[in-house]
Amino acid sequence: MSSKAPQVHLRRMTLADLPQVEALDRACFRTPWPEDSFRYELRPDSTSICLVAELNEAGSEPQIVGMVVVWIIADMAEVAALAVAPQKRGRGVGRRLLASALQLAWEAGARKSILEVRVSNTAALHLYYGLGYQPVGMRPGYYEDTHEDALLLTLDPLDPLALQALEKS
Ligand SMILES: CC(C)(COP(=O)(O)OP(=O)(O)OC[C@H]1O[C@@H](n2cnc3c(N)ncnc32)[C@H](O)[C@@H]1OP(=O)(O)O)[C@@H](O)C(=O)NCCC(=O)NCCS
Repeated sequence: MSSKAPQVHLRRMTLADLPQVEALDRACFRTPWPEDSFRYELRPDSTSICLVAELNEAGSEPQIVGMVVVWIIADMAEVAALAVAPQKRGRGVGRRLLASALQLAWEAGARKSILEVRVSNTAALHLYYGLGYQPVGMRPGYYEDTHEDALLLTLDPLDPLALQALEKS
């Protein structure tokens, strides 16, 4: 994994990160994951790719400012969660997290990726289209809280060299 941005580095999520990861999830989503969901992703036999972006500033405790969870289902990498702290957005952290997770997914045998995103989520759509995802379908009224439609996007095939370049961009 690269560490291009001066103080933000990416690494695997650990159990010790859960309080900060869950707080980030609550800060970023209207419907956060149920309690213990992240702990489940980190169980010893899990095949999920779980990464955090950690900010290390001199004189301060390390702070988790981003996270991603990708499920590996056969040759498919499904993006289950991706979030960056509001005050740290627009600096490439989200793109680096996703590119790194997809690269690890490729190394684990995934050859394509899929995800759902709210049609109104301009920031996420920009990030996904920038990585090469294409819209392949719509799920009307998919989100329970607002009944908003979900766009279904796929990235097929995963290109490890392109992902590596994006991870470092
Ligand atoms: C979506 C999210 C993860 C993006 O994280 P980020 O670190 O700000 O994204 P990046 O800085 O890596 O930006 C990637 C691209 O998206 C663009 N982008 C980011 N925020 C944007 C915005 N609000 N509007 C338009 N484009 C935006 C960036 O300009 C960049 O594009 P570029 O490659 O053309 O320069 C972040 O906004 C977030 O956590 N949102 C809330 C949770 C969420 O919606 N997660 C996705 C669920 S599907």
